[in-house]
Amino acid sequence: MTRLSVIGTGYLGATHAACMASLGHDVVAFDLDSEKIAKFSSGNLPFFEPGLSDLLKAGIKSGKLRFTNELADAISNSEVHFICVGTPQVSESGAADLSQIHSAVKAMAPLLSEGSTVVGKSTVPVGTASWANQYFSEHAAQNIKLIWNPEFLREGFAVKDTLHPDRIVLGVSNTSDSSVVEDIYSSTIQIGTPVIVTDYATAELVKVAANAFLATKISFINAFADLCDVVGADVTTLADAIGHDTRIGRRFLNAGIGFGGGCLPKDIRALQARANELGMKDQFEFLNQIDHINTGRRSYLVQQVAIELGDVKSKNVAILGVAFKPDSDDIRDSPAISIAKRLIEQGANITVHDPEALQILSKIHPEIKSSDKVEDALANADLVLHLTEWQQYREIEPTKLSKLVKTRTIIDGRNILDRDTWNSAGWKIIYLGRPSS
Ligand code: UGA
Repeated sequence: MTRLSVIGTGYLGATHAACMASLGHDVVAFDLDSEKIAKFSSGNLPFFEPGLSDLLKAGIKSGKLRFTNELADAISNSEVHFICVGTPQVSESGAADLSQIHSAVKAMAPLLSEGSTVVGKSTVPVGTASWANQYFSEHAAQNIKLIWNPEFLREGFAVKDTLHPDRIVLGVSNTSDSSVVEDIYSSTIQIGTPVIVTDYATAELVKVAANAFLATKISFINAFADLCDVVGADVTTLADAIGHDTRIGRRFLNAGIGFGGGCLPKDIRALQARANELGMKDQFEFLNQIDHINTGRRSYLVQQVAIELGDVKSKNVAILGVAFKPDSDDIRDSPAISIAKRLIEQGANITVHDPEALQILSKIHPEIKSSDKVEDALANADLVLHLTEWQQYREIEPTKLSKLVKTRTIIDGRNILDRDTWNSAGWKIIYLGRPSS
C-alpha cells in the first residue's frame, strides 16, 4: 500500500482520495479552502454524490484518509502526489484557466523529495504535462517522475467510475515509467481494466477527445431532434434504430435540452482554443457548431414555452429538475437554470423542484423560487417543464398531480416520460423532436 497525497478536493480530488483510501492506501488530501477541509474532516461532503459519503466516513474511521490545508503536511507524508485541481474556463476566450495547475506545481516543487512521483489527473490543454515536467526538472529535487493519468469519471457514478474505469491512461516521459501508478491501481488492473501507456500529449488528448466526442454525439442527435420536429418524425425511435448499429451505439444519443455541467461545455471550448493556438482552427471549427447547437436547445425550449403560453408574463411555470444531470446536485452550466433565468426575465413566475440541488441553488441563485415538494412546485402551474431526468420524476403518477395545476401540460425536455401514462391522466405531453400528444 502506498502513501498518497491528493492536491485539490473538488469533485475529482475528493472522489479520488476516498476511493484510494478504500483500496487500502494511506491518503492525505489537501485543499486551500479551510472550510471545505473542516467539512470533509468531520465526514461531511460539500456536494452530493451517490456512495461517496459512505467511503469518506469509512476512510476517516479506518485512519486511511485525512484532510489538511497545509501543503507541506500532505507532501512530506506521502510518496505519490495526485494533482486534482480545477481547470475552469476563462470567460472571454473559452480557453482553460491553468492558474490552479501552475500554482499547485510551483508550490509542490520545493516540497517534493528526491525520486517521488507526481500524477496529474486534471483535464488540461495539450502541452501542460510537458511544462510541469520541465518545471519539476528545473525547480524540484532530482529525479521527480511525472505521469499524466486523465480521469474519466461521470458525476453521479463517480465512485464506480474511479474504482472500475473503462480504461486507465498513463502518459509518461523518458524519465518516468508507469509502474508506480500501476501498483496503486493494481486491484482494478487485476480485474481486466485496459491500461494504455503512452506519451504526455496523447494522454492529455485522450481526455479532451473523449469529451468532445460525447458532446458531438449529443449535438448530433439534437440537430436531428430539430429536423424531426419539422417533419413530424420521432428522434427517440431514430436514436434507437441507429444505436443498434454497434459502430454507432445508443449511448449519449438522448435528445433534449442538451449538455451542461462543469466538463463537456468547458472542455470543448478549451480544446478549440488550444487547437486555434496550434494552428488547427479549421479542423476544430466543428466544435463551435457543437456548442452552438447545444446552447440553441435552451432557446428552443423557451420558444416551446412561448408557443404553449403565448405571453409568458405572470404565467406560473413549474420546473422539475435543475441539476445538470440526475444523481448530482451540480448546477454548473445547467440547461435548466439557463431556461429558468430566461423565463424569469420574460416575467414568468417560476418555481423549481430538485431532489438534491435546491440548497446549492438557493446559495448561487437566490432569485429563483424553489420548493422541496413536487406538489408545491406544481400548485397552480400553467405549464410544467421536466428538465432533469431524476428517477423520482419518471415514477410520478400524473393523476395525483392533475388537480394541483391550472393546465395539464408538460414539456419533457429530456424525452423520457411515458406518453401513455401522462395522456391517460389527461395531460398533454410535449417532447423535443418527437410528436406531442
Ligand atoms: C463527463 C464525461 O461523461 C466523463 O467521462 C468525464 O470524466 C467528465 O465529463 C469530466 O470531464 O470530468 P459528466 O459531466 O459528469 O461527465 O456528465 P455526463 O454524463 O457526460 O453528462 C453531461 C451532460 O450531457 C448532462 O447535462 C447530460 O444531461 C447530457 N446528456 C448526456 C444528454 O443531453 N444526452 C445524452 O444522451 C447524454
